[in-house]
Amino acid sequence: MSHSQFPYCRPRRLRASGNIRRMVEENHLSASDFIAPLFVMEGTGAKEEIASMPDYYRFTLDMLMDEVREIEDLGIPSVLLFAKVPDEKKDNKGTEALNPDGLMQKAVRAIKEECPDLVVMTDVAMDPYSSYGHDGIVEDGQILNDESADLLAKMAVSHATAGADFVAPSDMMDGRILVMREALEEMGYPNTGIMAYSAKYTSSYYGPFRDALDSAPGFGDKKTYQMNPANSLEAVKEAISDEHEGADIIMVKPGLPYLDIVRAVKESVHVPVSVYNVSGEYLMIKAAAQNGWLNEEDAMMEALIAFKRAGADLIATYFAKDAARLL
Ligand code: PBG
Repeated sequence: MSHSQFPYCRPRRLRASGNIRRMVEENHLSASDFIAPLFVMEGTGAKEEIASMPDYYRFTLDMLMDEVREIEDLGIPSVLLFAKVPDEKKDNKGTEALNPDGLMQKAVRAIKEECPDLVVMTDVAMDPYSSYGHDGIVEDGQILNDESADLLAKMAVSHATAGADFVAPSDMMDGRILVMREALEEMGYPNTGIMAYSAKYTSSYYGPFRDALDSAPGFGDKKTYQMNPANSLEAVKEAISDEHEGADIIMVKPGLPYLDIVRAVKESVHVPVSVYNVSGEYLMIKAAAQNGWLNEEDAMMEALIAFKRAGADLIATYFAKDAARLL
């Protein structure tokens, strides 16, 4: 035989028909892979489109109920909640974040009442509540680590008390998973899970999300806590330490520019790995499709299957409903 296996090996044989392609397809998407992010705001009777996220909305709680029922009917098992906090309730101590009747806490209770089986995850970070727009407590221009982790642990307990199934810390403070796990155990929530944003990069792709929550940092940037896009070793290190500190699910974020990180993390931990297909990634496909430059459905499905191929078990995506409908 020659060095080339041709003609004995002709890869096109396995691409010859739809059925053959289906038989040898290595990765599959299903609605159960998706986590649907939801933006909640105060007030009643309103649903506002987010300017930089076409077809994506902020909901008042009453309007959110139809949305969560629709998500559940599409077979999507879980939602990830973010609260938009009015400026007058923001401070540097996360006071409103701990309010038992705060928007996030009310949203969790309302959703669990409406759809008890839906897995409710909550974002745990200070930025939507912070007068500085940072994920931790600020002192002399620095983001304090341990004080912030303690506050985040209280936030996690507050969300668990409201009925959250998983808390999802997105702050990147050191050691916060351990502090949070211990607080949940101590306060009587041993069954509340933690989905840790373990490998979260400093990214320009969060821009539209910060519009959605009005949460852009008031000074500086997030480079002293979110990771440098040039690095991969520390992503693996963060993932392994979060697993040891008690994280149930490890997340990589953003998604598409970091598929190599998804793979590296998947091979390093023994818990499910999720990926966050963030707002800027959503925006790029939407904007291109609105200009007639890309086919939206095809581009969306190609991005989503890429996450599975990279090793993601779960995908947090603003496309959750659209993709579930197609599946
Ligand atoms: C904040 C948080 C951010 C996102 C999720 N949680 C933004 C940030 O870190 O500034 C981004 C999500 C997205 O862009 O879709 N803790």
